[in-house]
Amino acid sequence: MADDWQNAMDHAVALARRAGEVVREALQHDRKVMTKSCSVDLVTQTDQKVETLIIQSVKEKFPTHRFIGEESVAAGEVCVLTDSPTWIIDPIDGTTNFVHAFPFVAVSIGFSVNKQMQFGVVYSCLEDKMYTARRGNGAFCNGEPLQVSQQEDVKQSMIATEFGSSRDPEVVDKIFSSLRNILCIPVHGVRGAGTAAVNMCLVASGCVEAYYEMGIHVWDVAAGSLIVSEAGGVLMDVDGGELDLMSRRIVAANSRTVAERLVIEIDAFSPPRDDAP
Ligand code: IPD
Repeated sequence: MADDWQNAMDHAVALARRAGEVVREALQHDRKVMTKSCSVDLVTQTDQKVETLIIQSVKEKFPTHRFIGEESVAAGEVCVLTDSPTWIIDPIDGTTNFVHAFPFVAVSIGFSVNKQMQFGVVYSCLEDKMYTARRGNGAFCNGEPLQVSQQEDVKQSMIATEFGSSRDPEVVDKIFSSLRNILCIPVHGVRGAGTAAVNMCLVASGCVEAYYEMGIHVWDVAAGSLIVSEAGGVLMDVDGGELDLMSRRIVAANSRTVAERLVIEIDAFSPPRDDAP
């Protein structure tokens, strides 16, 4: 079985690279934008085209595998994680970046079996950085091993987060109050790449000590979660409990010390779960 997952991972890497070519090409010519849940929740034909490309190819090679894909769920597919081998796909993580040609756009492919991530592939396609992790085998960027930062003093830390795509004033207030609390710890700085997947790879690379967000989806963070843990990092819920990939809340950090310090300052809220009926 282990070899099967390695085959699947090799296929995911090849698909992510091919998808990245489509994204780079589309960036020059085709960024026609549509909206989903609200006026700032964006989707393009390229998101849909890349997801179809990945799913069709996987179906041919691994006909029994299941899928959770951002655009398939938007089109009405159920979003339920079972024990079956499941590909969790975000064809363009950072769609808003893509629309504005802001240079961080990723293809994210996670693979779960028995509800446990087996591999994660994040291709930051404008930087040409291929991040990979396989359970128990470490995390890599373009083949070079990744290691989280060893800095455990939150006051010496850089933190990544995002404003997300909700403009509900109550949600925005919570996001700002968390941000204010964290800035005033004080931390060295707060950054955001505009893609959850890349933010998590920045944790794995040791460029930021932690990333947190409420409002993300399982496809934004599935692959990145394994990349962070295989680089030596920790994952938890924003209330300090165990990470639940369907809960739309995450803290990914270099250490339990930094994660638990941030959790104290996060003004938590619970968006509707990804697997809500
Ligand atoms: C979004 C990005 C963004 C994060 C949002 C995500 P998408 O994903 O990861 O950084 O703030 O919460 O939904 O829509 O570009 O795939």
